[in-house]
Amino acid sequence: MQFHEAALSAFVIFYHAAVAACAYSKLLTGGTIVAYDEGTRLPKVIRDGLLLIREDRIAWISDGALPDNVATGDVEVIDCTDKIITPGFIDTHRHGWQTVFKTLGSNTTLAEYFSRYSALVARPLFTPEDLYISQLAGIHEALNAGVTTILDHAHHTWTRELAAAGLNASVDSGARIFWAYTFQNVENFGIPDQISQWRELSSAVSSKLTALSIAYDDFANSPEGADTLAVVNLVHEGNAAVLTTHHVEGPWMIEENSPEGLHRVGILNSSTPIVVSHAASLTPRGAQLLRSTNQHISITPESEMHYGHLHPASHLILDQASLGVDTHFAFSTDILTQARMWLQTTRYRVYKNTLDRWEIPVGNPFSVNQAFLLATRNGGLALGRKDLGVIAPDAKADIVVWDGCSPSMLGWSDPIAAVILHASVGDIEHVLVDGEFVKRDGKLVIEGYKGVQDRFLRSAKRIQGLLKATPLPQQEGAFLGTGYPYGQVMEIDVQRGEGTGYGPIYA
Ligand SMILES: *[C@@H]1O[C@H](CO)[C@@H](O)[C@H](O)[C@H]1NC(C)=O
Ligand SMILES: *[C@@H]1O[C@H](CO)[C@@H](O)[C@H](O)[C@H]1NC(C)=O
Ligand SMILES: *[C@@H]1O[C@H](CO)[C@@H](O)[C@H](O)[C@H]1NC(C)=O
Ligand SMILES: [Zn+2]
Repeated sequence: MQFHEAALSAFVIFYHAAVAACAYSKLLTGGTIVAYDEGTRLPKVIRDGLLLIREDRIAWISDGALPDNVATGDVEVIDCTDKIITPGFIDTHRHGWQTVFKTLGSNTTLAEYFSRYSALVARPLFTPEDLYISQLAGIHEALNAGVTTILDHAHHTWTRELAAAGLNASVDSGARIFWAYTFQNVENFGIPDQISQWRELSSAVSSKLTALSIAYDDFANSPEGADTLAVVNLVHEGNAAVLTTHHVEGPWMIEENSPEGLHRVGILNSSTPIVVSHAASLTPRGAQLLRSTNQHISITPESEMHYGHLHPASHLILDQASLGVDTHFAFSTDILTQARMWLQTTRYRVYKNTLDRWEIPVGNPFSVNQAFLLATRNGGLALGRKDLGVIAPDAKADIVVWDGCSPSMLGWSDPIAAVILHASVGDIEHVLVDGEFVKRDGKLVIEGYKGVQDRFLRSAKRIQGLLKATPLPQQEGAFLGTGYPYGQVMEIDVQRGEGTGYGPIYA
């Protein structure tokens, strides 16, 4: 339906005339809205639509008809003609503190990552300032890319100050962060101390966008130990927004963090949302447990390919799955790229079954709508939040506005295909979190952003210098005491004749 300008101005006048109770309304006009229909549980496309945001929530959406009974207050009208409006993306697995390492890990392996960039070794590199600014710049990067909600697996909790610095940056970022304090074995700052800091932070954090959560990866090391019991008890208290853990088996042997392992310690079937990251070795039993307890995994397509976690069965549990980015210093930061990679590699995998039988695939197994839902609504569900990742009445106003006339988008008629398969981060014009602009007209809305960049570059330069001066680890013998040996990988050759083109790292 066409929404006529006259009707719009009449509406705005009507709107202004009503009692001014709230000065925080925004009306997005003329755009194509990718809303969510609770009835069909599918995206619902509204062309030439109207979207009203009141404070932090979506008040209503329509195809141009004036609402009956609209509440009152001032309204800022934002013209979205020729634009596509989607929910913000939800990233259910990231380590924001690692931003300062950017580009150093372009060819890293998981074994090398553990000994060079991971929480096991990185502590001496960071001051609280480095930690704060690395986390902040990383979240800005995500916001710029339309990621409005992040489950941050914060394993920089080596001291009270370093833990607080990452939380403070999350609070200051303007993004919606489920900040998962990682309980881990650290010298002179044990898990009981970490839990007591968690309690303090949990009662002190007053930001409406930051939710204190828990990360724990040591169910494997101490399934009956005091630390694990303390974490399990804390989860049972019910004040953590989310619990998250890494699960990667095979020769990595992190198996007790599986759905089965979490069920054995009695937390999978609880009201706390649980996100099992990677779940790279998911079993049929584990999948059943996730469904019956309504818990989710986070697939990080690019990281699982980059490092070789692999994900042989993840396409069989997409009904309880969301998408994440993981160690964004080494690759893309945006969920759009993750959704696209996952869509096409899953198609490849499913087609291969048919082609391996020398048969011709008759259907395309995976639609752009499904990839879109994984990147948005499923992320909200993984975090236990039906009001995130959807454009629907009463959902949080976390929104991305795409330039439908950019060279890559021009000519679209299906807005979901346009975003999932043709758009790039460069096509993102506006991003709103909780009803506030964090990116507007293609630029982050951040006070003193130049100063943030300068601080970040100072930290990044210093830390990257230290890493460049540190020799690469020898990958010989067995990996981290698992008893499994290192094995060779075939080196790719892109050059005719001698040489392979592998080259150095130009850092
Ligand atoms: C974090 O913020 C709190 C509250 O503003 C402040 O008291 C504390 O010093 C900050 N800590 C760090 C490490 O930045
Ligand atoms: C989870 O708890 C519910 C309610 O207590 C129970 O009915 C269900 O069987 C439990 N599921 C599992 C997998 O233990
Ligand atoms: C990454 O590339 C550098 C430069 O070619 C090389 O020295 C290093 O061994 C590579 N790292 C891995 C883990 O393959
Ligand atoms: Zn991770």
